[in-house]
Amino acid sequence: MLDILTICGSLRKGSYNAALIRALPALAPAGMTFTASPSIADIPHYDFDVQTGGFPASVTAFADAIRSADGIIIVSPEYNWTIPGTLKNAIDWVSRMKEQPFKGKPVALQSASIALLGGSRAQYHMRQCLVSVDAHCFGRPEVIVTHANQKFDEKTLEFTDQQGQDIVRQQLEAFAVFVKQIN
Ligand code: FNR
Repeated sequence: MLDILTICGSLRKGSYNAALIRALPALAPAGMTFTASPSIADIPHYDFDVQTGGFPASVTAFADAIRSADGIIIVSPEYNWTIPGTLKNAIDWVSRMKEQPFKGKPVALQSASIALLGGSRAQYHMRQCLVSVDAHCFGRPEVIVTHANQKFDEKTLEFTDQQGQDIVRQQLEAFAVFVKQIN
């Protein structure tokens, strides 16, 4: 069994990225299970003075979830050509821990965006950030869902795009091999 932690970079209810996470179990190889990370919305803005008084419970919960996973998939939109601040803030917090939760963890990336580049620029910035926290970033295939408003059902938010489903399937299969190699 491979327990994969999913981290969503969007907080909104109707999020395409959250909808992409919901589509993963049906597209995953046998033996891969998914657990959603504790909400990153509850993590305060990083402040060294707050850290000095002790890590907030929301940060500890996020770090513990990362530590106990076999692998991690970050599914996020792109904001202004980069990583959404809320997600970056959560990573910044856990990066300050003595025992780095991301250290040695296999991490795959996915993004969905209503625009032409599908959040790819945020993915490349995320790769750079993950190197800094000693994670093992999975390479390819990449999951970049462009024009997301045409790829999810308007009402149910079901991921209906066949080509997109195939790429997700391929990524999850390759990621399962990658996770096993690292663990
Ligand atoms: C966006 N969006 C966006 N899209 C993109 O591809 N590149 C970008 O740089 C940005 N910038 C950006 C900034 C801000 C502040 C917002 C709110 C949005 C559009 C984004 O792709 C779209 O809102 C997605 O639907 C967001 O993902 P969720 O919430 O649906 O998961």
